[in-house]
Amino acid sequence: VIRRLVKYRVLNNRFINPILKIFKLDAWLNDRLQDYRDFKPNLSLSLQEIAGYSYKPEINRILENIHIKLRQYVLIEKQRLSADTFSILDIGCGPGLFLKDFDGIGQLNGIDISSAMTTIARKEMPSAKIANAHFLDYEFEQKFSVIYSVGVLIYFAKSQIHDFFDKVHQLLANKGLAIISYPHAYRSIDLSYPDFTYVHYSPSYLEAIVDGKFEIIEHVHIDGKRKITDYDKHPIINDWSYEGRSYQNSSILVIRKK
Ligand SMILES: C[S@@+](CC[C@H](N)C(=O)[O-])C[C@H]1O[C@@H](n2cnc3c(N)ncnc32)[C@H](O)[C@@H]1O
Repeated sequence: VIRRLVKYRVLNNRFINPILKIFKLDAWLNDRLQDYRDFKPNLSLSLQEIAGYSYKPEINRILENIHIKLRQYVLIEKQRLSADTFSILDIGCGPGLFLKDFDGIGQLNGIDISSAMTTIARKEMPSAKIANAHFLDYEFEQKFSVIYSVGVLIYFAKSQIHDFFDKVHQLLANKGLAIISYPHAYRSIDLSYPDFTYVHYSPSYLEAIVDGKFEIIEHVHIDGKRKITDYDKHPIINDWSYEGRSYQNSSILVIRKK
């Protein structure tokens, strides 16, 4: 019953969610209703599709931009640091689509809440250490030079987002780098927290959260041409997407631990 109330937004809307957030009930419900826990992938699909991305040319272009950006930052960071201690953590690594870019570049780690995803990631990247757990619940035994996450922030409810960045901060080595790619707020309604199961964070909101703990290195629309503040006033709305959601409306946040 609760699942339906949430899905049909009776118990998941902009009037109720800010109240749920005060009592951290948005996170409690979100975690219990997380569909990825029992995700059953179609193994005949590609890693990109299993990770949840289509092959539409416009999506391929966005993904390519993310691959390029991640690689650039990781390689620069690798050059800056000593090679033998270089380690990477992919939060919500899915089937290993992005981890594969870093084969041979340092010690690779991933974590994902879905056991099916981690099974695929382990097969794809046998050299990587992959944990099957909720990021906020897992106790890591090491720190990382670089932490990145693609398409995962949306699954963290607002009452968890401070904990998310606190944990990234705690897990980063001294002056470590974090790169977060996320679909940003693209409607004014997104600022009033209409859906705790899929949160389009406002770039300004995230900047306020990381303020003081991290230095912001870059925070731009993934097309690289503009910076979004509260929400995207010129989003791309496709007729094929549910409620206009698309990774085309996403930003990349690059921060360094202070
Ligand atoms: C859209 S997929 C993206 C996968 C991968 N990052 C990529 O871009 O190819 C989102 C992933 O986040 C994982 N996820 C969601 N909530 C999580 C959590 N609390 N802790 C760890 N992983 C989580 C899901 O299981 C899923 O694999």
